[in-house]
Amino acid sequence: MPTYAIIGGQWGDEGKGKVVDFLSGRAHVVARFSGGNNAGHTVLNEQGEFRLHLVPCGIFWPDAKCVIGNGVVVDPNVLIEEIEGLQARGVDVSSLQVSDRAHVIMPYHIVLDKLEEQARGGSAIGTTERGIGPAYVDKTARSGIRMGDLLEPETLLERLHAVVPAKNALITKVYEGTPFDVDSLFAQCLEWREQLLPYIAAVEETVRSALKAGESVLLEGAQGTLLDLDHGTYPYVTSSNPTIGGASVGLGITPRSVEGVFGVYKAYSTRVGAGPIPTELNDEVGDEIRRRAWEYGTTTGRARRCGWFDAVAARYSQVVNGLTDAILTRLDVLDGMTPVQICVAYELDGKTIHDMPSRSSDLARCKPIYRSMSGWDTPTAGLTQWEDLPQEAKTYVEALQEAIGCPVSLISTGPNRHETILRTTMIPERS
Ligand code: IMP
Repeated sequence: MPTYAIIGGQWGDEGKGKVVDFLSGRAHVVARFSGGNNAGHTVLNEQGEFRLHLVPCGIFWPDAKCVIGNGVVVDPNVLIEEIEGLQARGVDVSSLQVSDRAHVIMPYHIVLDKLEEQARGGSAIGTTERGIGPAYVDKTARSGIRMGDLLEPETLLERLHAVVPAKNALITKVYEGTPFDVDSLFAQCLEWREQLLPYIAAVEETVRSALKAGESVLLEGAQGTLLDLDHGTYPYVTSSNPTIGGASVGLGITPRSVEGVFGVYKAYSTRVGAGPIPTELNDEVGDEIRRRAWEYGTTTGRARRCGWFDAVAARYSQVVNGLTDAILTRLDVLDGMTPVQICVAYELDGKTIHDMPSRSSDLARCKPIYRSMSGWDTPTAGLTQWEDLPQEAKTYVEALQEAIGCPVSLISTGPNRHETILRTTMIPERS
């Protein structure tokens, strides 16, 4: 009963969509387990270019069942739009399931996310304003609406009557916003129910049965380890656990089923939103990386902050997740840049440290200590064989591997599915 997880090793946007699309060809089930439509995964394959926010990137493989687990928060409008968009382009979504335990992002969550961000002023987190945080707040406070509630209109109406007045009090009295009407929300829920009925299911059962039958399950992580609510750069984090522990809770599967934990890293660092990023380059090199790699958010379009590879943070992610393998993406972005730098330690208050501090205020004061390496002139873009990489690129990858603390088993050299160097089997072929 093997499970393999794809986990973001940095601050999200590591190129997990491309990797999941590539590896899904070997999986029976592909499952999202945390986050919501704050994620934006780009996939480029023979069927075209797609941007997915909720539907797992395995959807392009007809033999893979795609599921959205209980740990995900679902904006039904976004899910419906995504399903319809895929269908309009000839993609079969009939295997898709969304957990009846997954929490619904209600319209008031989106409004609250915006109002709370405005109220934070200068210390805003820079959320995606998709209602993610407020939806998880309600889940924890036990006042959330779940996908399964859409199936029982009477209970749903009772829950809305119990929950909405408190939300309205917050919206109107604290933030001076406009209240929501229970009847309109209920009507909206009934519309969602009509459209999503075929997809709402006991996903946990589906996944557990697959594991019992010896099928392989690919866990599609969203965001990244450094955005983890517990292990990331708090409070500049998302409201879920994108790390491996979140996968077990977010799908209801035993951690003992996990055979491979694959951490995805970009060959450099990026971050969108507020919070520390020690290797950030506020200069022409940072601009050049952003320009070459088109580092703008898939979900919000915001410019991403760019910097050199941070090996201190990368090793931290390896340890938090117990990564068995690393996956390196966007190596080609560094083609022709020399030197290339790897942050191997931080200087904090005059001392050299090799571990990530737990407080964001400390991390914000950390100055990177770099190892400088020669770049490479020959392009790596599109290569599919390790042997064909220029020697300097191989040396760079080997240095990253050493620093992260696990082998780099897959290298992505371009956005297309085939632009991939696979160095070990990683996941056995589907039987
Ligand atoms: P939220 O998840 O919308 O609440 O945003 C919290 C923080 O996580 C913000 O800094 C966002 O920019 C960041 N974030 C959330 N989702 C992603 C993602 O998929 N990629 C990169 N950053 C993200």
